[in-house]
Amino acid sequence: METIIQAVYFLTAFLFITGLRRMASPATAKSGIVWAGGAMVAATLVTFLSPTSLSTNLVLMIVAIAIGAGVAWVAAKRVQMTDMPQMVAIYNGMGGGAAASIAAVELLRSDFESGGLMALAILGGLIGSVSFTGSLIAFAKLQGLMSSRPIQFPLQRTINLAVLAIALVIGAILLGNDALGLIFLFFLAALAFGVMMTLPIGGGDMPVVISLYNAFTGLAVGFEGFAIGNPALIVAGTVVGAAGTLLTLLMAKAMNRSLWSVLVGGFGVEQTAGAVQGSLKPIDLEDAAVMLGYAQKVIFVPGYGMAVAQAQHKLRELADVLEAKGVEVKYAIHPVAGRMPGHMNVLLAEAGVPYEKLYDLEDINPEFPQADVAVVIGANDVVNPAAHRQGSPLYGMPILEVGQAKNVIVIKRGQGKGFAGVENELFYADNTRMLYGDAQSVLGQLVQSLKKLS
Ligand code: TAP
Repeated sequence: METIIQAVYFLTAFLFITGLRRMASPATAKSGIVWAGGAMVAATLVTFLSPTSLSTNLVLMIVAIAIGAGVAWVAAKRVQMTDMPQMVAIYNGMGGGAAASIAAVELLRSDFESGGLMALAILGGLIGSVSFTGSLIAFAKLQGLMSSRPIQFPLQRTINLAVLAIALVIGAILLGNDALGLIFLFFLAALAFGVMMTLPIGGGDMPVVISLYNAFTGLAVGFEGFAIGNPALIVAGTVVGAAGTLLTLLMAKAMNRSLWSVLVGGFGVEQTAGAVQGSLKPIDLEDAAVMLGYAQKVIFVPGYGMAVAQAQHKLRELADVLEAKGVEVKYAIHPVAGRMPGHMNVLLAEAGVPYEKLYDLEDINPEFPQADVAVVIGANDVVNPAAHRQGSPLYGMPILEVGQAKNVIVIKRGQGKGFAGVENELFYADNTRMLYGDAQSVLGQLVQSLKKLS
């Protein structure tokens, strides 16, 4: 039996890693998720064969799995694409909570093979607890259950560091004295630190933090895997920890923010930009269609609004019509457009847009000056020139230099600001025209108008 269990754990590790590898390309990502998910199911099932599982709490485990899987199934089926980040946050938090629970149980049982394994369990308990409550706060902020603005108060950094120090000191004491009261205080301090660490973070930094907690959860799970001698947990935890760390660093780099500045928080608290000069100049549908129909090169710039409107299919239709007229069409993809990494890529892939037409920021920016029209579809922050101005909450974030196109058409519903709440002077520029309306309906009408143009 033990051989079968270990063999399945080995297969699981292989599938996790190859699954992750496949997730690196949109073409194979779906199968990568299926492989890794299958590995997770296999690891869960085979765990039931271990003598400790069979002899204890079998019914409780099955009931817990049924409840957890049931809730997750329904929630995942219902969630809107735009609500994905908070869904990731809450699932992530549950993983951290589960790792912390393992640590709590093991500390209560106090049956460690060595002091080293006990230290790993304590460390995993600390990191898992921080990830648990931190992710819950991130969820509440993104779900609108609390203000998404950074919450700050005097001496915040000092108090936060003091709470972390208390958790670390009690953790160290636990190595020699694991009294129930100390275990309780340790988890209380760790859980409190997760909340306090997340409160001052807001605005566009939230996804970076969610990704960091993802890495924390992986690390905590890996440590608990060592503590209870479970190879599947060690491998899964290490893979998640490494992938989460890389993603966190990549996202911070894409927003040109250091991880430290994200963690210290305060992003988006104040806006020092003055009033924007100029006026918003609307364009009507027919004129926009003519401008597009007679262009040689058009660059589409999708953003969060395209996701909200689910306008990707209409965008693809518009591109098809333009290409049939001989217009060259490209898509400019900002790394943090939308609300999650790869958001635009996933939606456009779903609409059948070929991958080779999607261009990353550094590849497409030099092409804007040659574009006759750049069409911004529900994007705002990622095209906001305020990012070039010191003092702006967006300062330093690389943007798509849409304003350099000969003409710019911005499709949005009204005068709504972007995620960071900063006014966008691109919309007031001389070469920009505003085409108001829901992105899906506007794009649909543009297709109809263009079809009528011969
Ligand atoms: P945003 O700056 O959020 O702007 C979206 C714009 O879409 C709004 O100005 C809104 O204006 C418009 N809009 C909303 N619904 C629409 C609809 N149905 N039809 C047409 N337009 C609609 O989007 P972005 O440029 O993609 O920037 C993303 C922001 O989110 C960045 O600040 C980024 O840091 C942050 N963020 C990113 C992620 C990741 S990893 N991608 C995760 C969390 C946060 P109206 O209200 O006037 O229509």
